[in-house]
Amino acid sequence: MSERFVYLNGSYMPISKASVSVLDRGFLFGDGVYEVIPVFGSKLLRVDGHLQRLATSLERISLDNPFSEAEWKQKFDQLLDCNPGDDRAIYLQITRGVYPIRDLKIQPGIEPTVFMMTLNVEPVDLDVLEKGIETVTIEDFRWSACDIKSTSLVANVMLRQQATQYGVVDAVLIKQGMVTEGTASNIFIVKNDTLITPPTSKHLLPGITRDLVLELANDNEISTEVREIAATELRDADEVWLTSSTREIAPVVRLNDKVVGSGKAGPLWHKMINIYQEYKQQLRQG
Ligand SMILES: Cc1ncc(COP(=O)(O)O)c(C=O)c1O
Repeated sequence: MSERFVYLNGSYMPISKASVSVLDRGFLFGDGVYEVIPVFGSKLLRVDGHLQRLATSLERISLDNPFSEAEWKQKFDQLLDCNPGDDRAIYLQITRGVYPIRDLKIQPGIEPTVFMMTLNVEPVDLDVLEKGIETVTIEDFRWSACDIKSTSLVANVMLRQQATQYGVVDAVLIKQGMVTEGTASNIFIVKNDTLITPPTSKHLLPGITRDLVLELANDNEISTEVREIAATELRDADEVWLTSSTREIAPVVRLNDKVVGSGKAGPLWHKMINIYQEYKQQLRQG
């Protein structure tokens, strides 16, 4: 397999040649933000939504956006041209750059570090996805700035590790008795044929897949509610889903010691995954 080409600070280069200073604030403090944008064929899924969220994340951490939307898109095209493939994702991150002194204070005039690479994404296998995932609920101890797609992910790493120690693939996070999201995904529950997800807030990431699922549900006359979900509602939910750019829509079949619904991917999931695959197919065909 040929070597991946990445983008770093204005140049495209083989990944083995890309390096960043140990004084980069991304390395020292996790002082940066990132995005993951799925690509189907050569088409980017919801690129405007990802660029809008990137702009918001940058603004929240007081870092200027280095490029206009048109410049970002041109760079994405160039990166994809350097890395031929079918289904992929673009990972990009911007850190506050290198400063000679290790100091939390933001110094003016530092050049940000801009990095991009493609990620290999296994095409979603519906037979595997349909089997569902097992999860546990864990107390969400993260900060009140989870709406920022920050590279400071140690809390998410710890939570995922706790889930692994329970022998399951992910956790459903609970803050003060209310459901927030997964460790790298948003959550939906289904109750009486209505799809329910918590509202955006400082306690969860405004997922692009979440928005798309809500939009597709509304377009297809599936009833939706955006409202807080009490942790106690999980026990009686007919279905529970986790959504993200890479996982798409994963049905949760077990939560703690209890099966969810019938213990299999539910009927609304089947309906929605077909709508979602159709949407992707249309995107791929332009
Ligand atoms: C904490 C968290 N919530 C939600 C999501 C889902 O966001 P998206 O649908 O934009 O991938 C992610 C994605 O990585 C995430 O890390």
